[in-house]
Amino acid sequence: MLKKLSLAVAISSLLMSGSLMANTLTVGFSQIGSESGWRAAETSVAKTEAAKRGIDLKISDAQQKQENQIKAVRSFIAQGVDAIFIAPVVQTGWEPVLEEAKDYGIPVFLLDRTVSVDDDSLYMTSVAADDVLEGEVAGNWLINAVKDRQNCNVVELQGTVGSSVAIERKQGFDKTIKQAKNIQITRTQSGEFTRSKGKEVMESFIKAENNGKSICAVFSHNDDMAIGAIQAIKEAGLQPGKDILIVSIDAVPDIFRAMLKGETNATVELTPNMAGPALDALMAFKDKGVVPPKKIVTKSTLFLPQDAANELKIKQNLGY
Ligand code: AHR
Repeated sequence: MLKKLSLAVAISSLLMSGSLMANTLTVGFSQIGSESGWRAAETSVAKTEAAKRGIDLKISDAQQKQENQIKAVRSFIAQGVDAIFIAPVVQTGWEPVLEEAKDYGIPVFLLDRTVSVDDDSLYMTSVAADDVLEGEVAGNWLINAVKDRQNCNVVELQGTVGSSVAIERKQGFDKTIKQAKNIQITRTQSGEFTRSKGKEVMESFIKAENNGKSICAVFSHNDDMAIGAIQAIKEAGLQPGKDILIVSIDAVPDIFRAMLKGETNATVELTPNMAGPALDALMAFKDKGVVPPKKIVTKSTLFLPQDAANELKIKQNLGY
């Protein structure tokens, strides 16, 4: 009788701790923060994709600080999660904590940004766009848009300093516009991927560039900073999308709304669904031992004003 009772107690405590719940995976996700509309969409898509697969996703918001991300990763290791997802705010400084995760046998998946480490066995895979290609797509659009102009001075709103995306988008854009003799970047500064900073930096560019009259185009590393720039251009009495051309990256609903008003010209898509492919890779690894490729690359489609109405509908249906 006593034996039966203690067996029942043991089973119920195992059930409470989740140890007997068949194949429930727990994933810790160290998210950067909520600096942009794209980032908010990525977080919400991650929750939906995890729920669809019956995965328990624990999200920690780092508020743009790498030190908070490192703390979150250590806490996930202590909790014994099955995998750790990281959207790394900056590219460097990850080795020690990634080595700790490796020592505990916890696979790490990088989402939307990459890290710079000598030993790439420190993470399982990265799900991200080809960021250099994104810059190239933006640059090629601009070359074509201004091919009949003698000169085009571009101002650039960069993303977070030290982030892989800001570094690589710049590389791709710079390399591409070098092919055109009429295009040059006259000012470049970080707008930290936020709408408010994008507006503030654009205001300073406008002041420094003959009240905006000598600016031909803006290359913005994301849509939110482009939306801030649109506001600054309007406040300076100029027409965004006409007096000053704008090309950005992300393809969030608000940029399509601006396109429909004729206030911006082009955007390169970055899907917010980074978690879905990472969760699939994790499940295939856990269930069948399938090791994913080192990079899972998402598409970088260029969208123009003629695509805006349709794309806006698609994004709204997806709930972004
Ligand atoms: O890492 C992806 C970038 O981060 C997005 O382009 C930007 O909007 C975000 O905040």
